[in-house]
Parts: sequence; structure tokens; C-alpha cells
Amino acid sequence: MKRTAAVIVAAGSGARFGGPKQFALLGGRPLVEWSCAAFQAHPRVEDIILVLPETAAGAEYLRRFPKIRAVAAGGPRRQDSVAAGVSRLDERRTGVILVHDGARPLVSAGLIDRVIEAAEKRGAAVPAVPCRDTLKEIDGGRVVRTLDRGRLGRVQTPQGFASALLRRALAAASAEGISGTDEAALVERLGEEVAVVSGDPENIKITTPLDLIAAEAIRHENRTGI
Ligand code: C5P
Repeated sequence: MKRTAAVIVAAGSGARFGGPKQFALLGGRPLVEWSCAAFQAHPRVEDIILVLPETAAGAEYLRRFPKIRAVAAGGPRRQDSVAAGVSRLDERRTGVILVHDGARPLVSAGLIDRVIEAAEKRGAAVPAVPCRDTLKEIDGGRVVRTLDRGRLGRVQTPQGFASALLRRALAAASAEGISGTDEAALVERLGEEVAVVSGDPENIKITTPLDLIAAEAIRHENRTGI
């Protein structure tokens, strides 16, 4: 039986946050630790690679989260950081690789389960939640067209892939000089199908300080059961 691994990418500069958000505190704990704890606790995840900025110290994470096999240094683009993490996994022994944003601290065990299951069956899977706003294509300050909201989804992480497929997608993007904002986009480019599972509205990505306040509220609500 092949192993299931998670690559947690937390090597961004946090430009929109105003600093390295992966170390901002949520409930007294650095953001990145929330994701480490979620995958550490998940019974189906066996190996974790944590990707941090080159300057960050990793020894403490290795000690505190026993499933973390390596702390890798990230690259300039997100997909470089993902590639750095994937390269630290054993190609022959790994079945599904989950790629998770270190900036999504509130990922649930149920969501991880759904993504693993779909990635095992279909080769690639992403979680999505419905779009609440009406989305328009805009060019030069004018609306080009209104998109059909019913057919659009806001995609989250973890995204799950068969290890060989993810490696192929990253290698092809690198060879062709293509950048994607998520790994699924690189798989789609290969003409491969990406399955969609139900996402979790509480699995928000911390992009600005306001998101941190929302995460704090979600955490509080869950803890008190309100
Ligand atoms: O910038 P964005 O919020 O989309 O980043 C999503 C995740 O990717 C974050 O957890 C961030 O730390 C990570 N990232 C990275 N390396 C980069 C850019 C982003 O690990 N070069």
C-alpha cells in the first residue's frame, strides 16, 4: 500500500498581509502550526513535508510534529515551493500527495478525507465552495461579460493528486515556463480530469489581517458550539 503525504506550503512573503503571515498568531499559535497539527492528527496522512522561507528555522517543527519528514526551503513562486516539497518525497512509495496552503489553518479532518478519497479514485481532486458574489470579466475599466455564477466555484486546498501526475504537471509547467495559481491548473493543462469535492466555507485562506479576525471568530464559534 502506497503512502499518503501532505506538502504544506508556507514560504510566501505575505505581501498582501503586510509581512510573513505564516507566523502570525491565531489563538496564540503561529498560523502554520495549525495546518501541521491538522495533518499530523489525520490518521490517513503518513508523511508531511513543510515548506518554509529559506531563512526560517525548521528544527522545532521536526521535533514537535513527528510526521514531518523534512522542512524544505521554498522558492519565488508558489509552484516552486510545491516542487521543492514534492522533491523531498519518495517517488516509489508515495501514492497521493495533498498540497495545502499553510495559510488555511482551519482545515477539517472531514475535508482531508474527502480529498484523499477522490484523489485515490480519480487521480486529481480539489475542494470548492459556491461563489456568493456575481462575477464579471472586466477589461480596461469596463465589463466584458457576466459569468454564470452557478457554474463557478471558489477552490480551496488541500488539493490531492496521484504522485506521478503531480510530478508530471510540475515538470511540464517548468519546462514550458508556465505559472499557475494552484497545482490543479497545471494538471488541467495536461488535459487530465480534476474531480471536485465539497469544500468547507470555514476553510478560509488568511490573506489580509481581516481574515485573521474572521478565523478567530470561526474558531471561537466552533469551540463554544454557538
Ligand atoms: O499567496 P497565496 O496566499 O496564494 O499563497 C498561498 C500559500 O502558498 C501560502 O501558504 C504561501 O505561504 C504559499 N507560498 C509559498 N511560496 C511562494 C508563494 C506562496 O509557499 N513563493
